[in-house]
Amino acid sequence: MKYTLAFDVYGTLIDTSGVLQVVQKHLPKDKAHTLIGLWRTTQLEYSFRRGLMEAYVDFSICTKEAFLYSCKALEISLVKEQEIEILGSYSSLPPFSDVVESLQQLSQSGYRLFAFSNGSKKALTTLLGNAQISSYFEDLVSVEDVGLFKPSPKVYAHFNRKTKSKPMNSCMVSGNPFDVIGARSYGMHTVWVQRDAQRVFDPWGIAPSQTIKSLSQLDRALLKIKQ
Ligand code: LAC
Repeated sequence: MKYTLAFDVYGTLIDTSGVLQVVQKHLPKDKAHTLIGLWRTTQLEYSFRRGLMEAYVDFSICTKEAFLYSCKALEISLVKEQEIEILGSYSSLPPFSDVVESLQQLSQSGYRLFAFSNGSKKALTTLLGNAQISSYFEDLVSVEDVGLFKPSPKVYAHFNRKTKSKPMNSCMVSGNPFDVIGARSYGMHTVWVQRDAQRVFDPWGIAPSQTIKSLSQLDRALLKIKQ
């Protein structure tokens, strides 16, 4: 049976700091950095909280509400047009520089590739289309089908069901430690893409199957996992 790879999207394939350039058009550099950081952590916090509350909304709503919260918390006031431009930039973010070549290689090596994300199918189609990487994937799998967010074990089970794969022959590839821990705890193999050398992995006693610094090391990491 072919080995199945689930690629996280935001922060793994797609560089969310790409919004920084747009934000910097409207705010000084320091403020823009602070806003981007708070926005990203709040976006994830909102998805976790909504998951716990069983109050699912499209991930783009978490993104928008986190943006409005972060502006308020940092006392940043923007006009409607600026807000629209910044939020709009979230659908045309760049892929990390190692993505295209690695996806090409992995699909030549015979892996089944899927994007698997908190984002809605519609948002993923636009985002990966704009990044020109959609063609590498057999399909895009969204948590929207189950109305929950990562790291609920139900969303990883949904991935396996949808792709007709099993935990032991599938691997979650993610730059987000919470996603790696979620998938590992559910039972999938995992690779953590440590995109930032300063990034710390949560000390929960649940380690990734493999850790890599770049997707170009993924092929080799998968061979070790499959041994
Ligand atoms: C995703 C977020 C969690 O793409 O990065 O699912």
